[in-house]
Amino acid sequence: MSALTIDKVWKEYGDQIVLEDISIEIESRAFVALVGPSGCGKTTFLRMLLGQEPPTRGTILIDGRPLSAEPGPDRGVVFQRYSVFPHLTVLGNVLIGKEMTTARYSARLFGTARKAAIEEARAMIAEVGLTHAEDKYPAQLSGGMQQRLALAQALVMKPKVLLLDEPFGALDPGIRAEIHTLMTRLWHENSMTVVMVTHDMREAFTLATRVVAFERRRDRPEEKLRYGATITRDLPIWPPRQAGRPSLIRPDRDGPVASGH
Ligand SMILES: Nc1ncnc2c1ncn2[C@@H]1O[C@H](COP(=O)(O)OP(=O)(O)OP(=O)(O)O)[C@@H](O)[C@H]1O
Ligand SMILES: [Mg+2]
Repeated sequence: MSALTIDKVWKEYGDQIVLEDISIEIESRAFVALVGPSGCGKTTFLRMLLGQEPPTRGTILIDGRPLSAEPGPDRGVVFQRYSVFPHLTVLGNVLIGKEMTTARYSARLFGTARKAAIEEARAMIAEVGLTHAEDKYPAQLSGGMQQRLALAQALVMKPKVLLLDEPFGALDPGIRAEIHTLMTRLWHENSMTVVMVTHDMREAFTLATRVVAFERRRDRPEEKLRYGATITRDLPIWPPRQAGRPSLIRPDRDGPVASGH
């Protein structure tokens, strides 16, 4: 299970109210697409779910329990760029999370523990289609391959919640479509709840079970600081998609379900 309860959450930086009164229940294994204008606080919201930033007021619960104060292995994240370590190979990047959590001080594993971790990492690398690139460094990979690597790096930790901040925004359309198919498969096969920020409505409707919009209700310059963004729309996707169940509509075959909503 991996349900999120966000209850009356506010986020302020100094005098600036960024988010106001956000309340939303995200059911276990949902795939929420978060949309909204630039600067409205989407990344800030993800950072709060990750535990990198505390809310100014309000509570965030995961399966009914408060989030731990620090980012933990139950939450994974992929950013638009720079999620992976440039000085590690593909295999090294996927192994590093295991090494950091299992061997906290040395960040090195030995013997059978290392063998098992390598096997798991290789299986995950195969899942995202990078087996042939195991020994390459990120700079030797295309943008799409780097984002596959970032997904593998996050997923090998078996996060309950996967947070995606415009992860496919920099990819060109063909590669995007391919990675959408992969993302859908990973969501079906891994037991996780996904919250993905995107600027692309087509992408939101292609992947999500639910599209949530953040917006400032008052946006005049003199009001900007005193009013934060809040949830202005919350649209379920039709026909409903359910993790682990084949959907009536497949993004690789049918393209986006709807656009222009
Ligand atoms: N650490 C911080 N300190 C002060 N202000 C911050 C901090 N982080 C974010 N902000 C402010 O919060 C507001 C929302 O920023 P955020 O990055 O969450 O927006 P966003 O919706 O992700 O935008 P974009 O679509 O451009 O990525 C901005 O006005 C930003 O300046
Ligand atoms: Mg952002």
